[in-house]
Amino acid sequence: MASRYFSRTYRTEAAWEDLCTQRLVEVGTRGIEVSVAGSDAVQLLAYFSTPPPPHQGLPERVGEQRGHVELLAEGWLEERDWQEEFRRHVVPIQIGDRFLVDPGELDRPPPVADGRIVLRLPTRTAFGTGSHETTQLTLEWLEQVEVENRTILDVGSGSGVLSLAAQRLGARCVIGFDLDLPSALMSGQYERLNREPSVPRGRIGLYAGTSGAICPKARFDLLMVNVLPHRIASELGWLAGRVRSGGLALVSGVLDAEENSVLAAWRALGLDPVGRRQRGEWVAWKLTKGGSQ
Ligand SMILES: C[S@@+](CC[C@H](N)C(=O)[O-])C[C@H]1O[C@@H](n2cnc3c(N)ncnc32)[C@H](O)[C@@H]1O
Repeated sequence: MASRYFSRTYRTEAAWEDLCTQRLVEVGTRGIEVSVAGSDAVQLLAYFSTPPPPHQGLPERVGEQRGHVELLAEGWLEERDWQEEFRRHVVPIQIGDRFLVDPGELDRPPPVADGRIVLRLPTRTAFGTGSHETTQLTLEWLEQVEVENRTILDVGSGSGVLSLAAQRLGARCVIGFDLDLPSALMSGQYERLNREPSVPRGRIGLYAGTSGAICPKARFDLLMVNVLPHRIASELGWLAGRVRSGGLALVSGVLDAEENSVLAAWRALGLDPVGRRQRGEWVAWKLTKGGSQ
């Protein structure tokens, strides 16, 4: 029997898209399609396994407006391949000076590398196929820090895009993990897909699970965290403890409205900002642990 999904269609101002998306994630959306709805508004079609629980920042009844968000429609839908249309139109994305991320299908010819590191990540459900600002900001940082021969921990690895990029930049050892089992399984497939026989590979391990599986004695040269702050808040202390003295952290996935509180939490754990990037409402920092970098 085909699965069914519950859908809700919201309208909000373009400036509220990210916050609205975050709230939909908080109530368990399985996926969101965003479309432009006028000069300064967007429509978000969110899918759920079952009708979502109430959230103080989201309207509950069709026609209701709460804050900047209006609920336009809701209903049950039969399952289909949600990303089919999207997959037909994706194009390779140049990120920073070093990377070319290709979210296209494998029956297309590989993109022309033009001196860039190509990462082929055919779009499925795992986050991290290059189009999101938070991934782009982290990759832009990554190409500017010392990666060669370094040890790297990638928290919330999603598709594994950051881990694979670090490996291709010459990291000695990369460990990535994600709470989401399908994402972690997919990242293993992407890792195989992106193996280059001519490029020496450092060790790489991508697993489904939590930071608790990391050996307490392990220390990494570089920590990468592209995760919404509230989803990782309880683990920051443990993660900060895994960075060696003088090591770095790249922290992304943070809306500028939350910047000060998130930064204060990292500072309190001994990681100080030494660089900041912003795209749209998203910010990403380079932090250092007890040393100037
Ligand atoms: C914004 S995506 C980042 C994916 C990829 N690293 C990138 O940069 O594109 C965040 C990922 O973190 C995962 N995640 C959320 N909370 C987590 C946690 N506490 N521990 C591990 N992974 C988590 C999510 O499942 C999601 O795949």
